[in-house]
Amino acid sequence: MSEVEWAAIDRYLEERHVPADEALEWALRESDAAGLPQIAVSATQGKQLFLLAKAVGAKSILEIGTLGGYSAIWMARALEAGGKLITIEADARHAEVAKSNFEHAGVGDKVEIWIGEALKRLPQIAAAVSDPLDFAFIDADKANIPDYFDWTVRMSRPGALIVVDNVIRRGRVIDPDTGDADVDGVRRFLDLLADDQRVEATTVQTVGVKGHDGFTMAHVR
Ligand code: SAH
Ligand code: DHB
Ligand code: MG
Repeated sequence: MSEVEWAAIDRYLEERHVPADEALEWALRESDAAGLPQIAVSATQGKQLFLLAKAVGAKSILEIGTLGGYSAIWMARALEAGGKLITIEADARHAEVAKSNFEHAGVGDKVEIWIGEALKRLPQIAAAVSDPLDFAFIDADKANIPDYFDWTVRMSRPGALIVVDNVIRRGRVIDPDTGDADVDGVRRFLDLLADDQRVEATTVQTVGVKGHDGFTMAHVR
């Protein structure tokens, strides 16, 4: 089956699972208009993040990699009353688009954007935030996933769920010789994960409007 067919099936599923949503569509349109790359999660993936965050009763969510805020809007809507989502974004222009999308979606009061390199911001967030994380979505540069994951686990409560995006990369993940820092980062992450006694984890491949990719899901012991 071809990529065109995967995309058609994704649209079929989206029509059934994701009702038309002005704020989410707005966020994508504004992101496009501002020239941001079209690499947000798909609608069905966004809803999956929403459902997972709901399932753990999330009051404290961390996202690494905001872009225009599409995935963050999904997750913010899953927060329990009084909950907070912190999202980290290195690119100030992306953060500005996201901030305006959060306001438009009515989640501005629940979402905090920390602008800067995630590796610099994570220790600051860990020091500043007392509530342990219930849910996290790691979706920034792939080279640093091992460090992002380690920080996230250390900030999480037992029972927290951590989702890591883009770990298959059109199958390149099984190639040790791509010379691509992103692929190598994912491979290092999956190797470390295999011996990480702090979590139980699995990885699921996906196809659809975003091509062939996949996500890792980890449950903190
Ligand atoms: N989660 C978003 C997509 C994120 S795309 C969604 O699904 O809607 C990845 C984002 O990570 C980009 O906006 C990019 O600027 C940001 N990013 C890349 N490297 C980063 C780093 N080192 N620290 C923080 N953010 C980074
Ligand atoms: C890329 C990054 C992402 O977070 C994503 O979901 C898809 C692609 C990228 O850098 O190409
Ligand atoms: Mg992604």
